[in-house]
Order: sequence, then structure tokens, then C-alpha cells
Amino acid sequence: MCTNELGQPKGAPLSTETEAPQPRGSIPRFFEMKRKGEKIVALTAYDFLFARLVEEAQVDILLIGDSLGQVVLGYSSTIPVTLEEMIHHGKAVRRGAPETFLVLDMPFLSYQISPEDALRNTGRVLKETGVQAVKLEGGTAATCKTVETLVRAGIPVMGHLGLTPQSVHALGGYRVQGRDEAAAERLRAQALSLEEAGCFGLVLELVPAELAGEISSSLTIPTIGIGAGVDCDGQVLVLYDALGLNSGFHPKFLKRFGDLDVAAREALNAYVSEVRGERYPGPEHSFSKDP
Ligand code: KIV
Repeated sequence: MCTNELGQPKGAPLSTETEAPQPRGSIPRFFEMKRKGEKIVALTAYDFLFARLVEEAQVDILLIGDSLGQVVLGYSSTIPVTLEEMIHHGKAVRRGAPETFLVLDMPFLSYQISPEDALRNTGRVLKETGVQAVKLEGGTAATCKTVETLVRAGIPVMGHLGLTPQSVHALGGYRVQGRDEAAAERLRAQALSLEEAGCFGLVLELVPAELAGEISSSLTIPTIGIGAGVDCDGQVLVLYDALGLNSGFHPKFLKRFGDLDVAAREALNAYVSEVRGERYPGPEHSFSKDP
């Protein structure tokens, strides 16, 4: 594993106070949580009001995911999402969650062309949105070279392996990755390469639980799982899936922690019916001439 001048993992910022309690939601804190076996809780958000709710719930990491493309913008994959769209939503989330550690997904083709192009785009993201870190998909030698360039410039990078949705067509669909030994070995090697390149954390998506556990214990950096079992160092879900807003989506890994879809339908039906029946607005919702 690569280390900095103080012998800490390369993705961690220089600090002489690793033994002191770390503030909530910082890279040293995530390393400390992994060491102590405390689970890291992450969720996505894309707008001001939901970001405020997520911050109030005290999650450790809030991800402005490019799942934005599907759950907010109605695209059929994350591929069409643009850098401008990510920045626009990143700014809104920052305003809603000023005290939470924010990671923003770099969208398709904003970091693959060259390390220099990736540096320009991630630099823009940090400057314009105020997020603390970016996330990139993949673990090839080219991706690791880009990670090294960004980390050298002081930009914290989270990796993402397993099902990488921006490569959905190359992967042949949204399916579990690393089931056969060759693919599992590739994932193990790529995870280590991303750690060595300087990533401070790694999302593992749709990976068999045993393999995700094995990768997690082989790394110093924390892993954040989605559909990757309980042995990752933390968990992430798409917010609307966790809240039960996305009624048509039922993958095996998903637990709906609420039923907002039902609550929203009931509220909307009540509104439509009360407006049509002239029960809303009532006198208590109306203004008279006198203040
Ligand atoms: O875009 C996203 O929401 C993600 C999470 C599912 C990890 O990448």
C-alpha cells in the first residue's frame, strides 16, 4: 500500500493527530471508523430539501450520484448525464447539507479522456460546488493514472468497482460482477491498484458478499457497499429507493425503509379531490382584506 510522509494511507490528508478523535465526516474519520469497525453510512441526494433531511439524519457521506440521471432526470441510464447537470445539483445539495461530507459522481466522459481533462473537470466541480471529493468508476491502469493525477493535485477520489453503471452496455446489463474466479481476481487486483493510486474509499456495487468482505479486509481504505453484503465498511443506497419512492424498482439488495410512494399518492389524491370538491382552500387558508 502507498503511504504519505507520515506513513498514513496515501489518500489520507497529512495529519499529525491520527490518535485524537476526528470530526464527523472527514477522510481521517472514515479511516478511523474502518479501524474501529464502525459502519460508515452513506446515502445519495440531488436537491436542497432532501439534502437537508439527509444531513439531519447525520449520515457520514452524502453522494450526489449520477443516478441523478435515472431518478431525477428520467434518463434510461447514467450515460447521458452531463457535468453541468452534476454541478447544478451538487450546488443545491451543498446548500441543503452544509456540514456533511459530500462526494460527487463524475459523469461519463468527464474523466476518461485524459488525466489532464479529468483534473480540469474535477477541479471545476470542487471549486463550483464545494463538495469535498469526487467518485470515478473503474479500475483499469488508465483510471489509476487519473486517480494519481487528481490525488497529487489535492483532490480526494473515491473509486467504484463491481457493477459500474456507466459501462452498462459493455457489462451486458445491470448484473452481479465477480462471480467467476477470473472476474473475482480482476476485482481484487483493481481494488488494490485503486488504493495504491490514492483513493480514500471504494464503492463496491453488486459484488458477491464473500468477495466484497475479502476485498474490504485486504484494503486499508474503507469500502462502501451497495448490493455487496454486510462485510463492507459502510453502506450506500439511492435515497429514493431507501425511502420507497421508486415503486417499480425491486432489486434483491434493496430494503425500502419507508413507503413514501404510498404516502405521496395518498396526499396527491387528497389534494386533487379537495380542490375538485371545493374543500380546499378553506377560510383558514384564505386572506381577508384586513390584515
Ligand atoms: O450514482 C449513484 O447513486 C451511485 C451509488 C449507487 C453508489 O453511484
